[in-house]
Amino acid sequence: MSQPTIESILHEERLFHPPAEFSQHAQIKSLEQYQQLYDKAKADPQAFWAELADTELHWFQKWDTVLDWQPPFAKWFVNGKINISYNCLDRHLTTWRRNKAALIWEGEPGDSRTLTYAQLHREVCQFANVLKQLGVEKGDRVGIYMPMIPEAAIAMLACARIGAVHSVVFGGFSAEALRDRLVDVQAKLVVTADGGWRKDVIVPLKEQVDKALAGNSAPNVENVVVVRRTEQKITMESGRDHWWHDLQAKASADCPAEPMDSEDMLFVLYTSGSTGKPKGVVHTTGGYNLYTHITTKWIFDLKDTDVYWCTADVGWITGHSYIVYGPLSNGATSVMYEGAPRASNPGCMWDVIEKYGVNIFYTAPTAIRAFIKMGEQLPNARNLDSLRLLGTVGEPINPEAWMWYHRVIGKERCPIVDTWWQTETGGIMITPLPGAVPTKPGSATLPFPGILADIVDLEGNPAPASEGGYLAVQHPWPGMMRTVYGDPDRFRRTYWEHIPPKDGQYLYFAGDGARCDQDGYFWVMGRVDDVINVAGHRLGTMEIESALVSHSAVAEAAVVGKPDDLKGEEIVAFVTLENNIAASDELKNELKKHVVQEIGAIARPGEIKFADALPKTRSGKIMRRLLRSLAAGEEISGDTSTLEDRSVLEKLREG
Ligand code: WT7
Repeated sequence: MSQPTIESILHEERLFHPPAEFSQHAQIKSLEQYQQLYDKAKADPQAFWAELADTELHWFQKWDTVLDWQPPFAKWFVNGKINISYNCLDRHLTTWRRNKAALIWEGEPGDSRTLTYAQLHREVCQFANVLKQLGVEKGDRVGIYMPMIPEAAIAMLACARIGAVHSVVFGGFSAEALRDRLVDVQAKLVVTADGGWRKDVIVPLKEQVDKALAGNSAPNVENVVVVRRTEQKITMESGRDHWWHDLQAKASADCPAEPMDSEDMLFVLYTSGSTGKPKGVVHTTGGYNLYTHITTKWIFDLKDTDVYWCTADVGWITGHSYIVYGPLSNGATSVMYEGAPRASNPGCMWDVIEKYGVNIFYTAPTAIRAFIKMGEQLPNARNLDSLRLLGTVGEPINPEAWMWYHRVIGKERCPIVDTWWQTETGGIMITPLPGAVPTKPGSATLPFPGILADIVDLEGNPAPASEGGYLAVQHPWPGMMRTVYGDPDRFRRTYWEHIPPKDGQYLYFAGDGARCDQDGYFWVMGRVDDVINVAGHRLGTMEIESALVSHSAVAEAAVVGKPDDLKGEEIVAFVTLENNIAASDELKNELKKHVVQEIGAIARPGEIKFADALPKTRSGKIMRRLLRSLAAGEEISGDTSTLEDRSVLEKLREG
């Protein structure tokens, strides 16, 4: 299936208008209304955001300055006092939503649980008290390494309630990757589970935590709280490890939300970049609360009766913003599903939609491509009439996949919101508002009101329409990341000085290539840096290379992405071996396993190619462009004159 190219964009003429019936009842009802909001926000961004902060959120104390912008460092709602857990829970308790389902959870083996706002509030208060008893104080960091169970959301909200900073680590990461993150963030406590269900097998989370902490290698961690989920045998280290249910049973349910400064840190979430170790993306409280709240409300067109389901894992930003904080701040019913399509039930996603009458379904292009491959008969065998809105996120969606989603899942009546954003942006940046903006398959369409998106060259000049350029954002927005944890300089360099600021004008550099068409619609083409996107998971080539080189047999490694029908991209590693080591298939497998151990299964190379040498420039830089072409089986085109030794290329070509 083809990714969008400039040629395909130029020829994409299909336009889908929001159904009249949908627009009529939508939060934002017409293109004119969108345009008005956009213009209003552009004319006076601070007034626009201040008005929303005032009407949409509860503040213990109002801010005195909307935005303090000392580029590239922003403070939103300065001196405002707020608590996102209060906004997600307490404020709904005095309304009819008190007994509305906040979380509907479905476990992979078929068990399920529903928590109303009142019940969720109680659990969160109790766990907040547990954290306090274990010595967690405001500002302390808490690691969360969990399966997709309600306790993951409860732990996040409990941290937010007392002002502890959570750092969720995706349960698919290895012990090594977990340890790196716990050490970097100096976590004082870790919340985990004995295990979690993933495609019919148990992921041994607690065992990984034990490995990560072995030999006191994450010295700040004093306590580990363990949820009993899969009931397999684990070891509990006395003094350090505690059962969630023991502590919860004894904890008081009285825990008022701590008034936090708007700019107090809410969470750190690690993400891969083109250089160095994964960086801790820092999000703060007030701006993030507002941004996730209002984007959820307008983009998913939330109605109080909706059942909303985002299929992401809470280990990623999508889970943070659009399973937990955005939906709950709006008082919505958010579905949380532990499972994924698997041999024992390939149609499980459609079962969940039917069982709970899901109205809004938000998933990733890689999942849609997998659905296509499994065949229409699976969704067709279920009743999907409840659906009224579909969404996608994570990578460019191929127009063919978009059309399938529209036809087979949406029955040609559900608008599709293709939402472009990043861990760093906190929330959705470019997207249709479903009742207002006509859609084109493959385009994320127009910026959210208040977002000034641009396509520029590396000097910051507007890119010529026919060529496209780099996606950039002009003005700070409330949901933006505030810094890289412990490394403000890296934040400045990576995002705000990649395009050199001119006359004090800073541009946020997203790392994506994009193009605007004649209607001003954005077409995001994919990463322009050494970040690859494998099944919606973001990985830095350098991280995988470091993992490979840490194996004693490997002298040098270069990793590139190769287009893949299902996963979007697949990892291909070119490896040169130490002198005395012989190439073999066993070694290939061992190296793949080694990467899984160092990072996690999401980073397993699809292919390893042994080489005598890697193609380099005379100054010693690996020419990845050539490797990318080789991996994709394409002819090598473009300039190869800087290549130091042309015979290297010949040999690689011969394999
Ligand atoms: C990268 C961010 C935040 C959502 C999950 C991924 C790619 C994301 C789209 C889209 C084209 C997209 C970009 C971006 N991306 N959504 N709708 N169309 N590309 O978050 O791991 O921080 O990755 O995902 O390349 O830079 P992330």
